[in-house]
Amino acid sequence: MPLLEEEAPRDPYELFTRWFREAQEAGAIQPDAMTLATAGEDGVSARMVLFKGLHNGTFLFYTNYDSRKGRDIGHDRRVALVFYWPQTRHQVRVYGIAHKVSREASMGYFRTRPRGAQLSASASPQSRVVRSRDVLEKKVLELAAAHPDEVPLPRSWGGYSVKPRWIEFWENRDDRLHDRLRYVARERSGWRLERLAP
Ligand SMILES: Cc1cc2nc3c(=O)[nH]c(=O)nc-3n(C[C@H](O)[C@H](O)[C@H](O)COP(=O)(O)O)c2cc1C
Repeated sequence: MPLLEEEAPRDPYELFTRWFREAQEAGAIQPDAMTLATAGEDGVSARMVLFKGLHNGTFLFYTNYDSRKGRDIGHDRRVALVFYWPQTRHQVRVYGIAHKVSREASMGYFRTRPRGAQLSASASPQSRVVRSRDVLEKKVLELAAAHPDEVPLPRSWGGYSVKPRWIEFWENRDDRLHDRLRYVARERSGWRLERLAP
């Protein structure tokens, strides 16, 4: 279905949700995987993270706050996200500002994770050099013994919400004359819709 201004919803989250669902229905293996790009003191970097939903007009993901990406965001809150769904030949790009979510919200999500993932998150000083895998596996065993019931939320682990400044929707078209519609957040509320050349 071509991406036309006349048919595009006024709300980009409606279009995002529709495209996300379409990717799921088309059998995308991991439609929730997104690239997160950050700028730190020592340059830029990008990696995949898992999209954990939309909340009050923000894109959520969870990670270690002391990781490279966490340190980058501490330096510069401006981040970029990219989704690509080959099955539906759609790309969505987001540019926005990242903020930590509340500790209660991080706790709420952490509690839903499998115990193994909770232990790994607790044991792993993400992005730091470690001597060997052994060191990490031993740490997991120690933590499992120390916390036979509930694994506490690590101090350095939690969510970020990304408030978009703009969201761009890209759809593949014949002869590479692709469609690109960008929603730019207005100062107070609402969005300005514009077409970009492919
Ligand atoms: C498909 C996929 C999903 C991932 N999801 C997450 C995630 O949600 N959170 C996270 O911290 N790392 C996730 N990772 C690992 C990151 O890509 C990365 O290796 C890690 O966060 C460290 O990045 P950094 O050193 O730039 O901070 C994922 C990797 C892949 C391939």
